[in-house]
Amino acid sequence: MVFLIKMRVVILTCYPEMFPGSLGYSVIGNALKNKKFSLKIVNLHNFGIDKRGSVDDEPFGGGPGMVIRPDVIEKALNSITFKTDNYCKIFLTPSGQKLSQAKLNNLSKYDEMLILCGRFEGVDQRAIEILDFQEISIGDYVLSGGEIAAQVLVEGCIRLIPGVLGQPQSLLEESFSNNLLEYPHYTRPQTWEDIQGNKHEVPDVLTSGNHEKIDKWRKEKSVEKTKELRPDLYKKEI
Ligand code: ADE
Repeated sequence: MVFLIKMRVVILTCYPEMFPGSLGYSVIGNALKNKKFSLKIVNLHNFGIDKRGSVDDEPFGGGPGMVIRPDVIEKALNSITFKTDNYCKIFLTPSGQKLSQAKLNNLSKYDEMLILCGRFEGVDQRAIEILDFQEISIGDYVLSGGEIAAQVLVEGCIRLIPGVLGQPQSLLEESFSNNLLEYPHYTRPQTWEDIQGNKHEVPDVLTSGNHEKIDKWRKEKSVEKTKELRPDLYKKEI
């Protein structure tokens, strides 16, 4: 069978063992196996400045932690040849632009994506600017490095590539696709008796077989849930 790689992903990291990590499982793991995307992991320590592969140094001006050197990033980047002009270079950092579904939609259109994972206190700012990385954060909280964030970003992009998800309809209905959270889901048993003996029914409308009513109910639930849990999103919708 002939496979066509839709996206080439390159990760620059100090912890190559952390990959493919979650990207090796479920639909994304299948997409990797089926060559819908490729994953190349580059160990920054291979471009370190000494025999030990040191990549970092103390921050100028003082302060805690260590900073990854710009020359190390440059050498690692120069080891990569982009095969197209349609590529992006991303540095994952809590001080970047916040990731959103809209941003994932845009990023999923690249043919090649290079991701630099930060560690320690950060990366020398000259490397970010001169080597032209866009800075992206996966949320307003701080992780110990960019590796988990890279897996979030790659999974979010790859599942948008046509042919990766079994049911593309679910992309249209899921949370954020229209600034609303997704409606709640229910499955068997229709009456669930919990271990205390209390019975919980599935909403009647979902077993009515009336699809117009079901669609209307789901839209109402989406709006209710968004108003309650994410009023900021709901304001964008109206
Ligand atoms: N590295 C550490 N925290 C991060 C975050 N919130 N987003 C992206 N990269 C990070």
